[in-house]
Amino acid sequence: MPSPLLLLLLTGASLTCQSPVSIETRPRLTASLPATAPKDASDVIDHGYPALAFSSHSFHEYTGSKASPNTFSANLIETIANRTGSSVHIRVGGTSGDFAHYQADQNVAVKLPSGAKAGGIPRGMALGSPWFEGFANFPSVKWTYMAHFANESDISNSVAGVQEALKYIGPNLEALEIGNEIDLYPNDNRPKGYNAAQYVEQWHEYEDAITKAFGEKQYQAPVFANNKCPFCIANTFQKGQDSKKNVRSAALHHYMDEGPVPVSDVQSHYLNHSRIVDQTSAFQLPVAFLKANHPDIPLYLAEVNSNTYSTDNYDVLGTFGSALWLVDFLMYGMVLNIGRVNVQQSTGFSYASWRAVEYNGLAPAVLPPYYAHPFVADVIGNGKDKVRVTDLRLSQDKFAGYGIYEGSPGQLKKIVLLNLELYNSTTGGARPSSTMDLDLGSASKNAKIEKLTAPGAEVQDASKISWKGDSWTYQSHGRAVPGASTTEHKSVSGGRLSVTVQASEAVLVTLS
Ligand SMILES: *[C@@H]1O[C@H](CO)[C@@H](O)[C@H](O)[C@H]1NC(C)=O
Ligand SMILES: *[C@@H]1O[C@H](CO)[C@@H](O)[C@H](O)[C@H]1NC(C)=O
Ligand SMILES: *[C@@H]1O[C@H](CO)[C@@H](O)[C@H](O)[C@H]1NC(C)=O
Ligand SMILES: *[C@@H]1O[C@H](CO)[C@@H](O)[C@H](O)[C@H]1NC(C)=O
Repeated sequence: MPSPLLLLLLTGASLTCQSPVSIETRPRLTASLPATAPKDASDVIDHGYPALAFSSHSFHEYTGSKASPNTFSANLIETIANRTGSSVHIRVGGTSGDFAHYQADQNVAVKLPSGAKAGGIPRGMALGSPWFEGFANFPSVKWTYMAHFANESDISNSVAGVQEALKYIGPNLEALEIGNEIDLYPNDNRPKGYNAAQYVEQWHEYEDAITKAFGEKQYQAPVFANNKCPFCIANTFQKGQDSKKNVRSAALHHYMDEGPVPVSDVQSHYLNHSRIVDQTSAFQLPVAFLKANHPDIPLYLAEVNSNTYSTDNYDVLGTFGSALWLVDFLMYGMVLNIGRVNVQQSTGFSYASWRAVEYNGLAPAVLPPYYAHPFVADVIGNGKDKVRVTDLRLSQDKFAGYGIYEGSPGQLKKIVLLNLELYNSTTGGARPSSTMDLDLGSASKNAKIEKLTAPGAEVQDASKISWKGDSWTYQSHGRAVPGASTTEHKSVSGGRLSVTVQASEAVLVTLS
């Protein structure tokens, strides 16, 4: 084996510049950001954009009951609300709720059907009143409640469930949904030939029954897993989805994967900006359709996460890398003019942002993906000025960047930079970094650089992750635990700023 000295000579490296551990460098990246918002900046971002969804079979675990509210969850949710200055919006539904039945005389929250497995999606739950009490536990949350629709002939029970939900939701109802992922009904709980016109007709039958019982409500409809015509948003609206002008949003769902992904594919599947761009390009069509034909109805991604296959794969879906994926997904959704993203939560699913209760031998915990919520909430902020976002279009798989404009006309105020190169701290080696040379074209003098960081992308212990130096834990009841500051300050001269971001790290640059 040649000596290190010989190697250096052979590769022509200069001895004087070598540090004992050679840090891998990456080509410098450059971007120019106009000082005022360009024409292709996003629409104004709703402060409620970073939203949540609870699967029906986990809802009561996240909220707790009237007798025992889950204050851990309450603090984690309030952390987001405090940063955006908006209510957190939570959608409660999914397949388990669609196939559930309200049991008025049942005094426990949930009775699972026989054969239900931990981490699975039960079909045939019975929900008692204690389940519905959870809606009253987070009084500052705005709720979207899904009425069950899978069993078409169970309409009176579905209406009774709405009544029970409204009792606890009170004025905090944002919308009702009728059914979940209706595009997947044909050949499952509806005949093979079930079509969009039949769906719209049955939807109106349910909506009529709800209106007769409780008066006019606002709806989120349709609720589709995918946007594949004939079960697509355009066709459903053309068939009369909004004929009564009571639809306030339309919903699609998205998961990056629907099957096992090995750890060796974390870089290519999740820490990959191009893959997010590819997978979400299909949303441009429904966003454009609604804008042109129903400009008051936004498209929401009302159930989103990394992988529907999410049992016992915390090493793939429950890591710091997963938080970085979620930040990039949420940021890119803003660029696409998605009105809101509800990040799906389900107890025992590896992608969850937190485990609200002890489950299957695992203690309650903040989980790594949680950190994406306060990060994105801080990007939006709680100011009064209108916020718009641009994609820096770096055309890189492993690096993404966004400009944040505030006010009208929008002024460049913040920049998000994500270094998505996977760094695994357990395999050792120096951590690579990438430097971004920014031309800001603005009069900014100072840059504050705040970090979302951890020892490596593989980290599963959320107390080792920090955002601006803060960490969140179950031991702190979901309140921020301040740690050593990771914030840097730099001066901007002549509109030029260079920012170095380590592999597997995100930063928020705030200009002043
Ligand atoms: C949210 O802000 C309020 C008002 O400043 C504060 O009392 C509360 O503790 C904050 N909540 C959390 C979870 O930090
Ligand atoms: C559907 O609902 C009807 C009416 O409540 C009930 O009789 C029937 O058993 C339900 N079907 C299933 C599969 O649960
Ligand atoms: C990122 O994903 C795209 C597919 O969307 C793929 O072509 C590319 O190879 C991936 N990049 C990496 C670094 O794995
Ligand atoms: C990190 O490396 C360890 C040790 O080789 C391995 O067990 C783990 O799966 C890796 N994680 C990721 C996300 O690469």
